[in-house]
Amino acid sequence: MSFPMLPNHNQMKKMSKENIPLQDRIIVALDVDTTDKAQEIVKRCESHIGFYKVGLQLFMASWFETVDWILDRGHKVMLDLKFFDIPETVKLAVAQVNNRGVSLATIHGNDAIIRAALEARGDMKLLAVTVLTSFGEEDMRAMGMTQSVSDLVFFRARRALELGCDGVVSSGMEAGRLKTELGEKLLIVTPGIRPGANTMDPADDQKRVVTAGMAVGSGADHVVVGRPITRAADPILVIETMQQDIAAALTR
Ligand code: C5P
Repeated sequence: MSFPMLPNHNQMKKMSKENIPLQDRIIVALDVDTTDKAQEIVKRCESHIGFYKVGLQLFMASWFETVDWILDRGHKVMLDLKFFDIPETVKLAVAQVNNRGVSLATIHGNDAIIRAALEARGDMKLLAVTVLTSFGEEDMRAMGMTQSVSDLVFFRARRALELGCDGVVSSGMEAGRLKTELGEKLLIVTPGIRPGANTMDPADDQKRVVTAGMAVGSGADHVVVGRPITRAADPILVIETMQQDIAAALTR
């Protein structure tokens, strides 16, 4: 798999959220099945990383136990449960999470669902999921959709911003267009990060992938990285390399 050419957004970068500390730029995805395994990853990474993502698997396994443990250690949490249901149910679910110290939570759905979630967000920032990074053009065609992934991401991101969402989850391939056309107010969190083209595993489920530097260089505020760090023999080496890549992208 090769990485796409991304647009150059020097002007946007000058205005970008450079106040985000380097240790918060990478959000490590704790995609494991026990709180012990999650704690082990956090302990290995915390000298360099202050932001962790708890997703469906770990939340099902440990409910708020891991979330609270991470917060008690002074780190930030992104709770990635991608809430999707009728508006009232989403509102009540979001209300269960707000004011617990979680920094970012994810939702998706139509206007009514997003509005309902926003009503209950409390002190959390809400991110709308645009199109999963494991989803490619061929998946769009298979579902009978004629627009491009980029147009669908843009359409959903613009709507989320208009409705009052704090940001979106989008691939690095769309981050540049979103920042250019929708502006700096939109927080962009980008999963689907891989260290380099030569490290791509053909069996990888992610499709719209870029490097950490490419994502931040084109407008992402944070990158979400799971397996490249959590399954690495030397996670700190991977983190340091990605952070150097991010720092270089921010100064270009
Ligand atoms: O292991 P990997 O780096 O591919 O992990 C990516 C993480 O980002 C996973 O936890 C996945 O749930 C999440 N994610 C994603 N695409 C989205 C939203 C979240 O891959 N659109």
